[in-house]
Amino acid sequence: MIKIGIVGARGVYIAGALASMPERAKITAVCDIDEGVLKRSCERVLELGANSELPKAYRIYEDMLSSDIDAVVISTPMQCHVPQAMLALAAGKHVMCEVTAGVTMDELFWLIDSVEESGKIFMYAENYCYMPEVQLVRKLVKQGMLGDIYYGEGEYTHDCTSLCFHEGKKTWRHYWQMGTRGAFYPTHSLGPVMQCFDNDRIVSIASFSSGNHNPYDLRNDDVTQTLCQLASGKLVKVRVDTVSPRPHLMNYYQIQGTKGCFEMPRLGGEAKIAISTDEDPRGFEKWRPLSDFNDFLPERYRKNEGINAGHGGGDYYIVWDFIEAMEKNVLPELNVYKAAEWTAVALLSQLSVTNHGRVMDMPNFRAKMPWEEKKITL
Ligand SMILES: NC(=O)c1ccc[n+]([C@@H]2O[C@H](COP(=O)([O-])OP(=O)(O)OC[C@H]3O[C@@H](n4cnc5c(N)ncnc54)[C@H](O)[C@@H]3O)[C@@H](O)[C@H]2O)c1
Repeated sequence: MIKIGIVGARGVYIAGALASMPERAKITAVCDIDEGVLKRSCERVLELGANSELPKAYRIYEDMLSSDIDAVVISTPMQCHVPQAMLALAAGKHVMCEVTAGVTMDELFWLIDSVEESGKIFMYAENYCYMPEVQLVRKLVKQGMLGDIYYGEGEYTHDCTSLCFHEGKKTWRHYWQMGTRGAFYPTHSLGPVMQCFDNDRIVSIASFSSGNHNPYDLRNDDVTQTLCQLASGKLVKVRVDTVSPRPHLMNYYQIQGTKGCFEMPRLGGEAKIAISTDEDPRGFEKWRPLSDFNDFLPERYRKNEGINAGHGGGDYYIVWDFIEAMEKNVLPELNVYKAAEWTAVALLSQLSVTNHGRVMDMPNFRAKMPWEEKKITL
């Protein structure tokens, strides 16, 4: 039985997923600096059915780390992620960490070093990768049904301005998510797209932005567009827009291959796919509902076990994979190297935008990188 401690109130969402696997893991501790939030979060763990008794409540993170928990789920503001992950790893705990992984390039290398030194599991909680549509398309891509994939797009358009204030005070998002330039929150858009480019990686990025036209005291531009060049020469585009007055669209994706394409709906409706087959070589000219291909969903999604969890069940399967990685002691797919690459798009995009769209090289994040490659140069 794996004992999990959660830091940051949002993390208790995993209690819903754990309710169906009580013999495998349990939330034994919750930590939050806000006493009221802490009390409500502990009660929420009970409501969600993961525990039969209240988890132990901690105000001080280090105190929770001194307890007998095996793993920590980090759901605090993004500037806390690397320091808290490093403390947990040094204390011998496994870590699942919310997006984004860190807020500076150096932090990403500190995180990688800490994971490697600890030998513990680090999993990146990029839950959009686990949404059913994303998993289905990925399966179709793996089967070659869209041919050779050479282009992908992801967009996160979500007016987050109200999240920059709480009870009249500026929150962390006023500074870290929206108080800096560049595509500072790219991984919901990038992760699902990059999963269609197996064994490829981002080698360089360039970002351009629109300037500020909305009436906010925020340094992040209204829209930032980032182009990512992959090692194979293929292309990925990411739009991050957390300001514009428009309906939310947090999970728009487009994938293009030599046999057809996939698009999430922009204006409501169903996800669509258009593909050529031997029987219908011009099939790429007609949109079909993605749901026509539901038989290709990974088996665990067809069983609908996680259907009530957030993000179409994605929040269930991500917890499932974290637990499996800890039980089997294997590198999770959303490991620290992927977390670093996808997060670095944000940090390099900040540098690119502030340098008139300059092309920025991406480090080749991998196990046991030589020291010279960990030094950032412009
Ligand atoms: N994956 C997703 O879909 C998704 C959605 C929303 C937020 N997030 C991520 O989740 C994280 C939290 O976001 P949020 O919207 O819940 O933020 P929030 O500000 O609403 O909540 C953060 C919580 O952390 C607590 N906290 C702050 N510093 C702490 C510390 N040092 N020790 C203990 N507790 C501390 C705060 O009291 C607060 O309760 C962020 O990294 C964000 O990017 C991910």
